[in-house]
Amino acid sequence: MPPESQPSWSGSPPSASTPRSTAPGLPPGSATTCAAFPPEYRRLGVGTALFRVTAAFARASGYRKFVIQVRASNTAAQAFYSRLGFRACGRLARQVAIDGREDDEVLMELFLE
Ligand SMILES: CC(C)(COP(=O)(O)OP(=O)(O)OC[C@H]1O[C@@H](n2cnc3c(N)ncnc32)[C@H](O)[C@@H]1OP(=O)(O)O)[C@@H](O)C(=O)NCCC(=O)NCCS
Repeated sequence: MPPESQPSWSGSPPSASTPRSTAPGLPPGSATTCAAFPPEYRRLGVGTALFRVTAAFARASGYRKFVIQVRASNTAAQAFYSRLGFRACGRLARQVAIDGREDDEVLMELFLE
């Protein structure tokens, strides 16, 4: 999708959680958010558009970097974040268990400079 065009949809729009200024285990000055769209809204450029707005807001608010945790088996999300410029910087072994199946989480970072 060209950068200047706007994503459009019908029915319930995709959503992302509201950034929170406090979260357990995070250092002061951190905020958290996440994005998950229904399958029919993926690969339309919505995630990239949301990221651009979020990155602009974060820079303007004085944030220095993004750090994400993404399940090791979620190669689609890793591809998405890599495309945005995130680089893998660590791995948490057996970090989550979903339906009884354990998974690692990959740490990815992006400096806002
Ligand atoms: C990950 C997610 C937020 C990305 O949002 P999106 O709107 O689908 O992403 P975009 O359309 O902006 O994709 C931008 C680029 O990222 C890459 N990308 C995105 N989804 C991809 C996939 N499934 N496989 C490979 N590359 C992918 C591509 O390079 C894509 O560009 P292209 O479509 O021109 O090839 C969305 O797919 C989603 O909600 N997934 C399920 C929940 C999830 O995994 N959330 C992340 C948890 S950490």
